[in-house]
Amino acid sequence: MTERIVLAYSGGLDTSVAIGWIGEATGAEVIAVAVDVGQGGESLETIRQRALGCGAVEAYVADASDEFANEYCVPTLKANALYQGHYPLVSAISRPVIVKHLVKAAREFGATTVAHGCTGKGNDQVRFEVGIQTLGPDLKCIAPVRDLALTRDKAIAFAEEKGLPIETTKKNPYSIDQNVWGRAVETGYLEDIWNAPTKDIYDYTATPEFPPAPDEVIISFEAGVPVAIDGVKVTPLQAIKELNRRAGAQGVGRIDVVEDRLVGIKSREIYEAPGAMALITAHKHLEDITIEREQARFKATVGQRWAELVYDGQWFSPLKRSLDAFIEDTQKYVSGDIRMTLQGGQAIVNGRRSDTSLYDFSLATYDTGDTFDQSMAKGFIELWGMSAKVASGRDIRVAGK
Ligand code: ARG
Repeated sequence: MTERIVLAYSGGLDTSVAIGWIGEATGAEVIAVAVDVGQGGESLETIRQRALGCGAVEAYVADASDEFANEYCVPTLKANALYQGHYPLVSAISRPVIVKHLVKAAREFGATTVAHGCTGKGNDQVRFEVGIQTLGPDLKCIAPVRDLALTRDKAIAFAEEKGLPIETTKKNPYSIDQNVWGRAVETGYLEDIWNAPTKDIYDYTATPEFPPAPDEVIISFEAGVPVAIDGVKVTPLQAIKELNRRAGAQGVGRIDVVEDRLVGIKSREIYEAPGAMALITAHKHLEDITIEREQARFKATVGQRWAELVYDGQWFSPLKRSLDAFIEDTQKYVSGDIRMTLQGGQAIVNGRRSDTSLYDFSLATYDTGDTFDQSMAKGFIELWGMSAKVASGRDIRVAGK
């Protein structure tokens, strides 16, 4: 029986050419797998037809947008995950869901190998292959760009020679990856890290310099999950989309960073994640009133580690799973409403309310109704500073000798 290979297929030039390229190089049959993670653009049906037109023996297409929002974006939100303090893991969280579908398709169509279009310099090759190794340890991996010398020029020549139903003249100077959680743009002019991004780079966000009137929004959460916007019930996918629209119109969520790739390269990336950044801001502020202080402090370090694991392609790892359990436990009381103003590139919280809040007015107030016994503070401070005071006494004693 002819060997079969499933290919992560985007519908673009490189993966369209990869179908035939892999076929010629390996003699295998190629099954194209396209997964909708809310990236917008062409319909799955258009993509399926193109895959078949480019020589795929089968095409597997899946609308995974709700699955992606519920099982990948929501955990990222619960973790308030920002890699290196900036990046909400847009591409990093889409790879594991695509991997799930690749492995499913491989089983369905009896494939022995999984192919993806990544280069040998980035993080995504790692995320795909580590994911596949974990979910389908018997499956092999191949990357035509990296392993079969499929360069851009060769791709264009191949498409033209074979008359593939794909545009070869449209040249985008940037490498772009996008889904409902955000958009990532790199390469070209941006590789000079002193160059400011030009306006044409952005798509999810309007320029924040000349914002429309401020937009006030109330986001309601239940156990860390966004459930309503301005009182209207929403699914997580709808919440992200609605905030992409509204926060995007105000230029919220533009990020320009040089980040540390797993492979040791520093690279410049422009992100736009209006919905994700508005949601993370609101969620964090709700945690501020509903999570106890020590748990909150520890959770911040857990969230950072979680972000590193996910960035590094360890979505399916045991440590990530354990951290998920911790994070999930912290979300029990993260319910309530956050009111925020979106304007001029910022999402600023100006009100919060929760039935499970730890904010105690009678403890906090400086006005009448104060129930806090200030006389307790004196002895507390005495003990709190005791060990440093003892050490400082020793330092003075030793220095004096
Ligand atoms: N640097 C980001 C990451 O590794 C995004 C990579 C996405 N690719 C792109 N063409 N911009 O998660």
